Amino acid sequence: MRTIGFLAISTFLLNSVATVAAVAAEFRSGEDIREYINIDIFLATLSGFTIEYKNYYKVVTNIITGQKYCLVGWNQVRPEDCPQDSSFNVPIQEFNFDTDSYHAIPYIELLGIQTKLSGSVSIQNITSPCILDGSQNTKITSPQMVLSLRSVGLPYVSFSGNDDSLGPLEKASWLLYLGVFFDMESEALLAYNQIANNYNCHKRNLQRVNKNKIVSWTSFDPIKKTYTINGDNYYTQLSSDAGAVLRSPNRLQDNTYNTAVFTELHALALQLQGAEFIFDISDTSVDYNTWYKSGGVYFTPNNSFAHVPAIADSQVYSTHGLVNSNGISDWTQRSAARPDLALLDIVELLYPTFAVPDASEFPVWFTRFDKKEQRLINESYGNCSSIITSAAKETACTIGTDGGSHTRTLTSGGKAGVSVGVIIFVFLAAGLGLWLFRRYRRNKRHNFYRMNEL
Ligand SMILES: *[C@@H]1O[C@H](CO)[C@@H](O)[C@H](O)[C@H]1NC(C)=O
Ligand SMILES: *[C@@H]1O[C@H](CO)[C@@H](O)[C@H](O)[C@H]1NC(C)=O
Ligand SMILES: *[C@@H]1O[C@H](CO)[C@@H](O)[C@H](O)[C@H]1NC(C)=O
Ligand SMILES: *[C@@H]1O[C@H](CO)[C@@H](O)[C@H](O)[C@H]1NC(C)=O
Repeated sequence: MRTIGFLAISTFLLNSVATVAAVAAEFRSGEDIREYINIDIFLATLSGFTIEYKNYYKVVTNIITGQKYCLVGWNQVRPEDCPQDSSFNVPIQEFNFDTDSYHAIPYIELLGIQTKLSGSVSIQNITSPCILDGSQNTKITSPQMVLSLRSVGLPYVSFSGNDDSLGPLEKASWLLYLGVFFDMESEALLAYNQIANNYNCHKRNLQRVNKNKIVSWTSFDPIKKTYTINGDNYYTQLSSDAGAVLRSPNRLQDNTYNTAVFTELHALALQLQGAEFIFDISDTSVDYNTWYKSGGVYFTPNNSFAHVPAIADSQVYSTHGLVNSNGISDWTQRSAARPDLALLDIVELLYPTFAVPDASEFPVWFTRFDKKEQRLINESYGNCSSIITSAAKETACTIGTDGGSHTRTLTSGGKAGVSVGVIIFVFLAAGLGLWLFRRYRRNKRHNFYRMNEL
């Protein structure tokens, strides 16, 4: 029997801390059986999806949209309990994305599968400079799969990695969701671990700073003329991991404020009272004047109703710092996939003496709202042919060095401490070791039976 090894590793995500267990799944050929053996359930309900391995197919569930997909390997026939319109032969060879799923693009690039994009792509509203105008590649007009939140007349898959009910690392873990459609579990896990380890390393180092600045996340809707103070899990966790305390209405209160109603504006200002930093995620069509003036007297410094230090001290930041040539903010597309960048962006603003890998690159997205300083995306996106390698360097972290030392010169080559990369390597080596060990045992057992038979 010829055995072709196929390494799959599953991650169990709990409270944003990834405890990783390696399991071996083997694909046997040379017999009629072709299957994902070692049936293993990927349990990541906190991340909003699950993956189940069932012999020759996998069942992927997007818990957020309630959609379920069957991914059938090795061109086997579709199992009876799998509906045709949500079943796919994997690995997917050609795919595309809808305009409502641009947030999936950075995940696509971290896996390096943008080469499988087929059909038309219009890059006007896409911030990544690594996506080519698909009009050059229209030979395949009906790709196997389209990432979309709605029915598009082709088999579609909903991708919810940017859902704000998810924490920062849970959003990033949607790399595994995407990877499973391409039989790229191990690549996805490697990329996720790189990002999560850098994130956790900076978060840990930051605990030594621990000054707990007070922050709020707002957005202004220029059409409805309402403010929202965001209190979703994503904002709570990201702020907390960056050494801040989120100020937001509790979940029972309404968090949207109509500017036409004075009492609502007053309530808004009272909610923001004491906020030292405001991170505003309004659309790029909203400028600071609009944002500030809509708050009326309640946003003026030294008003008698509420003191909002962020406004009085010009510490209101927007996510308009990095845009494409059409003025679309890269934050809206890339921040879900890159919690490591989001974390360092905020840290750089809250604690400017905390060392980040390359201070000239941070903040990536945030900019003083009143100053309107913008960069064009093409200058700092990383190497398109290896985004994950660029990503690992961008947020490189050395355990124990940048938190307390307050030096600004730390680089990825920091000498003291253990680099996160080393830990990942050890982990992977352990996983591979376990796999080889199991193969060895399996082969031995097999040989033993053979001798018995003789
Ligand atoms: C880009 O966004 C603008 C504004 O939302 C919209 O009018 C336009 O149709 C979009 N273009 C594409 C190609 O999606
Ligand atoms: C607000 O009050 C402080 C002192 O209480 C004063 O220094 C500052 O000039 C005032 N700002 C404005 C805009 O009136
Ligand atoms: C980035 O965009 C600017 C302005 O469009 C252009 O001058 C510059 O050459 C671009 N840089 C790269 C690396 O493409
Ligand atoms: C980008 O990455 C590829 C593959 O890793 C490498 O061959 C190439 O030299 C890199 N380009 C730059 C500009 O670093």
